[in-house]
Amino acid sequence: MSATIQYSSEKVTIPKLLEKKTQKETITCLTAYDYPFARSLDEAGIDVLLVGDSLGMTRLGYESTLPVTLEEIMVHLRAVRRAVKRALLVADMPYGSYHVGIKSAVKNALRFIKEGGAEAVKIEGGRKRSRLVEHLVEAEIQVMGHIGLTPQSVHFMGGYKVQGKTPQTAEALLEDALVLQESGVFSVVLEGIPQEVACKITQELRIPTIGIGAGVHCDGQILVTDDLLGLTFSHKAKFVRQYANLKETISSAVRKFIGECKTGDFPSRDESYHLSVDTASKVLLKHSASR
Ligand code: KIV
Repeated sequence: MSATIQYSSEKVTIPKLLEKKTQKETITCLTAYDYPFARSLDEAGIDVLLVGDSLGMTRLGYESTLPVTLEEIMVHLRAVRRAVKRALLVADMPYGSYHVGIKSAVKNALRFIKEGGAEAVKIEGGRKRSRLVEHLVEAEIQVMGHIGLTPQSVHFMGGYKVQGKTPQTAEALLEDALVLQESGVFSVVLEGIPQEVACKITQELRIPTIGIGAGVHCDGQILVTDDLLGLTFSHKAKFVRQYANLKETISSAVRKFIGECKTGDFPSRDESYHLSVDTASKVLLKHSASR
């Protein structure tokens, strides 16, 4: 039996997310890339929407997130901004937008806030991002951290591999999370790590952890919306639970359309515009007289 979830229609803010951690109320997050999806997710009551660089794979057909540009995120961010009223809106800093110096990184993040309407940005990486996080916070930009299996580091990890599986690497992840917290992030995404490690990090931090492939003990959960809805063409990760099969829904609707066009079932008389009987007879008479 599925319970009807009641959620407040009040705007989700960063202090409210911190409150949710204290009250042990699970934070729900999804990715969004366009107006209709963002509006549907927002109206369904999601807490946080991330315009993720997963955009590159889900919507732009890239093989990884690495080619995604600041301008591509910006276009999608602005569409999502127009749709979202309640959820906290976070923009992902794409690869290359925060790697060539603090000044340009802050400038790029400011564009997401000023031009894109984001309320926060997300950056991948642990302690090596601590100075950058401090500068962003200094510039009044809220930051979500992201550690563990960070897809922008795919070449460093030697593939998309679960991180933190040894005592040393698990300890390093905890240290990364603590350093990011001290630098000023308001929450941290834990991706692709054992649930025991995610649980320990969640217990040690004051700020909320948001898990993806990190087990049930995180303060919140995030999935790529297209994975959840069955709209992806790539390999399905172990941690994805698919709640719908939109790819099949779309295919079967389009196959039906093609069939009905061919049989002449579509468009019907009711789906067509008509002349009045009088005008029709004049048009038809004129047409036959001119032949
Ligand atoms: O880009 C993205 O979708 C993400 C989430 C999966 C956390 O970074």
